[in-house]
Amino acid sequence: MADFVNQFWSWFIAIPTVLGILACAWLVLGNMSGKGSGSGSETTGHIWDVDLTEYNNPLPAWWLNLFLITIVWGLIYLVLYPGLGSFAGTLAWTSAERYEIEMAQAEDEYAPLFARYQKTDLALLAKDKVAMRTAERLFASYCSTCHGSDARGAVGFPNLRDGIWSWGGDPKQIKSTILDGRIGIMPGWATPLGGTQGVDDVTEYVLSLSGQEVNADQLLSGQEKFQTFCIGCHGVDGTGNPAVGAPNLTDMTWLYGGSRESIHRSIAVGRRGQMPGHQSFLGEHKVHLLAAYIVSLNP
Ligand code: HEC
Ligand code: HEC
Repeated sequence: MADFVNQFWSWFIAIPTVLGILACAWLVLGNMSGKGSGSGSETTGHIWDVDLTEYNNPLPAWWLNLFLITIVWGLIYLVLYPGLGSFAGTLAWTSAERYEIEMAQAEDEYAPLFARYQKTDLALLAKDKVAMRTAERLFASYCSTCHGSDARGAVGFPNLRDGIWSWGGDPKQIKSTILDGRIGIMPGWATPLGGTQGVDDVTEYVLSLSGQEVNADQLLSGQEKFQTFCIGCHGVDGTGNPAVGAPNLTDMTWLYGGSRESIHRSIAVGRRGQMPGHQSFLGEHKVHLLAAYIVSLNP
């Protein structure tokens, strides 16, 4: 119980807990003693509806004993397990340790299986139905929060089954994306482009790259600016560059949404999508299986 910032909070919990238990014991014991068994006819003097009399009988012993048992149980528990402030309990049991033991057991059990998968080529492993069922569960646990349980993504989180890749769709590239993570750095261009007008012009040009209807008056200025500021990453024709994760701007697939406003925002303010690396967290065996799973979603 290292969560307490100082000893005060430990006592703040321990003292009321002990006092509470003592108060319960006092109450129960007080009710047990004194009133003998024979005095069954004593009443409180309360009478309702003419003949309903309230008796003052002692509480049944079996019922009071149940309370005593719970009190004794509570005391034993607090001696053995953590519960009284920062006192760790004589068994030194911790949930964190239990978790680690169970994880280690699972690791021992599944390690040989994952090791076998690890030796299989990604494209081949993607066709192994049993392996992919395991991989699907891994995806649900570790990836679906961001990419969706169907892997179709959301705004800012790429669709992993449309065959369109910012960082390359080769099985090896997919695997290194998952192992090491990726950070897509798109700087904001409002200032270099000379403010809103410049961003407007380039937005029109970017929209025209995917064949959308645009304001023709702005195209030329937009194109000039694009050739000056953007081709270093997105390429002369706007088809992108997987080495820096710059998306293809000529298809109709958008990481941040295809509306004029969201493209304008991408250009003016910039974007910084981050795919966390999973190597130290999941280990290479699981990442290998997950990479094969992503390959299997893109036949
Ligand atoms: C330093 C490299 C670099 C330069 C230069 C650059 N971009 Fe980008 N751009 C990126 C990256 C990387 C992303 C993806 C960001 C992410 O993954 O979060 C991106 C994303 C975008 C997007 C969003 C695409 C989508 O699918 O939602 C647009 C639009 C865009 N850039 C337009 C431009 C324009 C216009 C310029 C020039 C003014 C430009 N970029 C210059 C690297 C660059
Ligand atoms: C915290 C959110 C998050 C989690 C968890 C996450 N990802 Fe990602 N992932 C992203 C983001 C954001 C990107 C896009 C990075 C960028 O902007 O370029 C991405 C990109 C990718 C890409 C590259 C897509 C492309 O177009 O090249 C792959 C492949 C991928 N993720 C697979 C996975 C797998 C498999 C898992 C589970 C182990 C996973 N991701 C877990 C957020 C996440």
